[in-house]
Amino acid sequence: MSNYHIKHLEEYYQVYRKSVREPENFWEEVAEEHFMWHKKWDNVLSWDFTKPEIKWFEGAQLNVTENCLDRHLPTRGNKTAILFEPNDPKEAAEHITYKQLHERVNKFANVLKNQGVEKGDRVCIYLPMIPELAVAVLACARIGAIHSVVFAGFSSTALSTRINDCDCKMVITSDGSYRGAKTIDLKGIVDEALESCPNVKTVLVAKRILSNISIKEGRDQWLQPLLDEASTTCEAEVMNAEDPLFILYTSGSTGKPKGMVHTTAGYMVYSAYTFKNIFQYRENDIYWCTADIGWITGHSYIVYGPLANGATTVMFEGVPSYPDFGRFWEIVEKHKINQFYTAPTAIRALAKQGLELVEKYDLSSLKVLGSVGEPINEEAWHWYNDNIGKKQSPIVDTWWQTETGGIMISPIPFVTPTKPTYATLPFIGIQPALMDENGNELKGNQVSGRLCVKFPWPSIARTIWGDHQRYKDTYFSAFENKYFTGDGALRDEVGYYRITGRVDDVIIVSGHNLGTAPIEDAINEHPAVAESAIVGFPHDIKGNALYGFVILKDVGETRDQNNLRKEINQIITEHIGPIAKLDKIQFTVGLPKTRSGKIMRRILRKIAHNDISNLGDTSTLLNPEVVQSIIDGANSESTN
Ligand code: PRX
Repeated sequence: MSNYHIKHLEEYYQVYRKSVREPENFWEEVAEEHFMWHKKWDNVLSWDFTKPEIKWFEGAQLNVTENCLDRHLPTRGNKTAILFEPNDPKEAAEHITYKQLHERVNKFANVLKNQGVEKGDRVCIYLPMIPELAVAVLACARIGAIHSVVFAGFSSTALSTRINDCDCKMVITSDGSYRGAKTIDLKGIVDEALESCPNVKTVLVAKRILSNISIKEGRDQWLQPLLDEASTTCEAEVMNAEDPLFILYTSGSTGKPKGMVHTTAGYMVYSAYTFKNIFQYRENDIYWCTADIGWITGHSYIVYGPLANGATTVMFEGVPSYPDFGRFWEIVEKHKINQFYTAPTAIRALAKQGLELVEKYDLSSLKVLGSVGEPINEEAWHWYNDNIGKKQSPIVDTWWQTETGGIMISPIPFVTPTKPTYATLPFIGIQPALMDENGNELKGNQVSGRLCVKFPWPSIARTIWGDHQRYKDTYFSAFENKYFTGDGALRDEVGYYRITGRVDDVIIVSGHNLGTAPIEDAINEHPAVAESAIVGFPHDIKGNALYGFVILKDVGETRDQNNLRKEINQIITEHIGPIAKLDKIQFTVGLPKTRSGKIMRRILRKIAHNDISNLGDTSTLLNPEVVQSIIDGANSESTN
């Protein structure tokens, strides 16, 4: 029996049991049968969660791009690998075949080499969703450079922090980007960021919006002329299984963003295997994930997972609302999309628009619908199921994280019966555990607790770049010998999992992971601000929105409060990006603090949720009187 493609529920249970009982044999078979290796491994797995140290396929040698490109050439050379749908529907879509993509990646890889990039160097990619982004990612992987893609909605400060943290020597960007009816000056943002990045020696600039940008002599170069001169052959660098493939930053509840390090072999095997099964991809299918490659979803399920399976993967440059809210459905009809993978935020925003914009289009090509990034509420689930899937296309509610590299808990379509708001069953090889607050594992069904994973899977991030101690503290210290996800979950009467949300100070807004600390740090930069605290509150489209409680330095501050609110959001936009803007800002004279000086966010969260009937124990507060004044303020404040 091939374990690679699961087609029935019994088969799922059978393969799952094998993957848990004999994980090494199981993953060895998957790796052996479906990938191309220069040298096989000496050891499938060694691990120690106390250090923590995890190694998969040690001793093996490979290059991921040979698996994603070269090996498909004989059979799929003329098949579309990437189908690029531009921001403007009037601009023609571009079909890039495997043969063409292979050539473009090789050329780009040669450009990187000619510019002095070597194996192990870090390269920052700050590009919009244009083909060059995927090509740049693969070009890095071709020569063994470690890519660090930064979502092109991040501000210059966020960009420079990420460039410096992993010491990138090169930045790849474009002259700008389209976003619906707007254009964004990406190169200007890069220029600003690089004022504080002395180690960046080269900037390669792709042309997209044909804007007038400034070119810094000796540092900036247009990409196209370099590509024109580069050779189409570039031998793939032979990489060790545990060599880093990429770094991707994610927010922590405190401190600076964490550069999660993913390595080569395990990441490739797991992203490919999950893609094949969770989307039930068949040879001629057209698969579309609407995420940006700047997030892990794009890395694993636009680039690596699909290409490792020889799939056709769509890259969409635009936004769901341009030129109108029918755009997603227009694209589904136009390209006859078979698998469609998006975030609950997008579903909720589109559901608000009324059905005319859906009914205009033929969605009959759809077979599988996916959801990712945040819990999907019941209403959105049904809207998606009824109106997009017409009750024919199973919804795969996929739970996973930047740190996990691939999908961890999810139905397999046509295999696992779905249940609204439930991510359902652990995927093959994944051993979840629910823990109580005392560190005991909750056995049996109908329990809820903190979600951990007991055993390593191939694509678990191996460390945080430059800070292994933080990796250990964040993920392996809360519960002995377990990876802690930071999420809460419940297991129902049949063993299905439902993710209930973060149990730490990370807030998921529109599917984006935002740590409270960096936002508070940004707000505190405002000269009038003494202190601030951020919590999430429910929002009907974004899932959560941000509520800021802000103490001003001067209690008698006479400036217009709405102007102050605007200025605070402006600072947040500059430091992090518009995704982190606050929906509500309440000025207050104090924040509830414990005697050790810690802000009691639990109370602020209740106030923000307008749920003040039971605030719980406030006796440990240093300043209990402040609570009532915040409640009064919340009732009377005009917020923005
Ligand atoms: O809280 C969970 C939520 O998103 C977090 C991970 O965010 P990030 O690393 O940005 O990766 C997002 C894309 C994989 C998780 O800790 N999350 C992700 N998927 C789901 C989810 N919450 C509920 N249901 C999901 N399907």
